[in-house]
Amino acid sequence: MKWVAVGDYDDLSRVAARIMLDALAANPLLVLGLPTGRTPEGMYARLVTECARDYRCFRDVVTFNLDEYVGIAGDHPGSYSSYMRRHLVGHVDIDPQSVHIPDGLATRFRDRASTADEALEMECEDYERSIREEGPIDLLYLGLGRNGHIGFNEPGTLFDSKTHVIQLSESTRNANAALFPDGNVPQRAITMGIGTILAARRVILLASGESKREAVRRLHKERENTDFPASALRGHPDVMVICDQETV
Ligand code: GLP
Repeated sequence: MKWVAVGDYDDLSRVAARIMLDALAANPLLVLGLPTGRTPEGMYARLVTECARDYRCFRDVVTFNLDEYVGIAGDHPGSYSSYMRRHLVGHVDIDPQSVHIPDGLATRFRDRASTADEALEMECEDYERSIREEGPIDLLYLGLGRNGHIGFNEPGTLFDSKTHVIQLSESTRNANAALFPDGNVPQRAITMGIGTILAARRVILLASGESKREAVRRLHKERENTDFPASALRGHPDVMVICDQETV
């Protein structure tokens, strides 16, 4: 695990964006794994600015988002589909067909499944199949939950897990409540599994701000254990953790 400590959030966003732009320049057919949350917003803003200058940056890439809430449609303002449209997809030359985000309503499988949960299972299997067919993911970015979750893999998730439905912890729901002003924060999400994340060729984890200090300390200290999902990254050969001064 390589650690890069930068000055502040702007530096973190700049360094993270630069890594992606360099990777895109080296391989325009890149397969990307993309995160949501507040941490990567600055990176996306930089990418949008840079790609307005070089409008072909994203033309041939394929993207897979880490996760999506269950039970809300892609046009719900709190969904990660909306987030991606707001922060990246709506502003760069990416082919909408190449953007993959799990469907938290599993719409395509509703007719074939006997229950809503069965449809969600089918959605997860289909997402995993797409990653297998179009992957491997060349470069995958992660944020870090305060309890060490990566994607939405909460403590206790097995390290060989594939895309699955997960029950969100109370603390994770509280941390993500801002985009649900009516208070209806979803209870469940679809997330790439930890095994899916570990299959990416290269992983960049971003951590910023004082609220992540404890999680960063644990990532630095702890051996692999399922109580702290991000510790799974110790078993990956090419991980870079970029954190700012407030986290260290
Ligand atoms: C959510 C996302 C994670 C993200 C985490 C941290 O739980 N599903 O992928 O890493 O939030 O978010 P933030 O960057 O807002 O602290």
